[in-house]
Amino acid sequence: MREAALDAVVGDEQKDEDPTTRELCERVAALLGKEAAVFLPSGTMCNEIAIRVHTKPGDEVICERSCHLINFETGGPAAISGVMIQPIDGMNGTFTAAQLRQVIRPESRYAPESRLVCVEQTANMAGGAVWPLDQINDVANAAKEAGLATHMDGARLLNAVVKSGISAARWTEGYDSCWIDFSKGLGAPVGAVLAGSSAFINQAWRIKQQIGGAMRQSGILAAMCLYGLDNNVERLAEDHDLAARIAEALATFDHVDRILPVDTNIIIFDVSEGAPTAPEIVASLEQDGILAGAFGERRIRLVTHLDVDKNAGDVLCKSLAALLSP
Ligand SMILES: Cc1ncc(COP(=O)(O)O)c(C=O)c1O
Repeated sequence: MREAALDAVVGDEQKDEDPTTRELCERVAALLGKEAAVFLPSGTMCNEIAIRVHTKPGDEVICERSCHLINFETGGPAAISGVMIQPIDGMNGTFTAAQLRQVIRPESRYAPESRLVCVEQTANMAGGAVWPLDQINDVANAAKEAGLATHMDGARLLNAVVKSGISAARWTEGYDSCWIDFSKGLGAPVGAVLAGSSAFINQAWRIKQQIGGAMRQSGILAAMCLYGLDNNVERLAEDHDLAARIAEALATFDHVDRILPVDTNIIIFDVSEGAPTAPEIVASLEQDGILAGAFGERRIRLVTHLDVDKNAGDVLCKSLAALLSP
């Protein structure tokens, strides 16, 4: 990947003259079945720009309560786009068309206008859950029937593709905008690509320029993303297998209360009251060279990726066994 960066042919991206970045955008637009795409530094910027393009201040965005754009984007939708959020309490980070219809607001002089529906594929805080295809399509259809725009946060869409065998373009069919991240399972240091219609991407470019996301010789970065696309997609299956193996081991430990279903590469589990707290466990794992995330007092999140192999999984399970099954 680093060698790909060294050899990249570059130009001025801000003028849309960087050939490697253009190639990446064309590849991703085709992959996601959209007319055009734009390279951005991060997935967060993809979500925030998409919301800004689809909405106007005072509008309402509908999404699942555990999603990234509510919980981890520092209030970006409010700060950048001036929108309200209507969260749905879903199941496994997903929701149904019926739940969506229930919260779409009828036309009223008093209420905010429901404008945009966002889904997250896979659902991060539900343990990398893959939406069922019918359900994600039904949600898009319900949104369209009511005149709403649709956006897919596809930070880990390619995990869903590898897990399901369903192409990225089929997953994104009902969605006006969508994106994939290169700095997750694909292993690039920077980069995400947001795709949609040509008109949508023209508007996205304007916001990208406005908030300082336009770059110069971004081909150095895009070349690493292309490398990830060419070399690191199929191997996501190894991350899924390792995550499943770790979850199996966790299920045998005395102080593990609940493990969310492990669909892809994210393992989320709760430790029981008698055990050390999640932050204590995470601190202890760090001493063994293992990085994990604590969410509150009892919940831990583990992610498998291309830098951890089966041996690393064994080290993790041994360390966790000492803490949770002494
Ligand atoms: C579901 C989801 N959306 C968006 C993001 C943001 O991506 P980035 O870290 O590239 O800004 C993340 C990051 O973890 C994520 O999990």
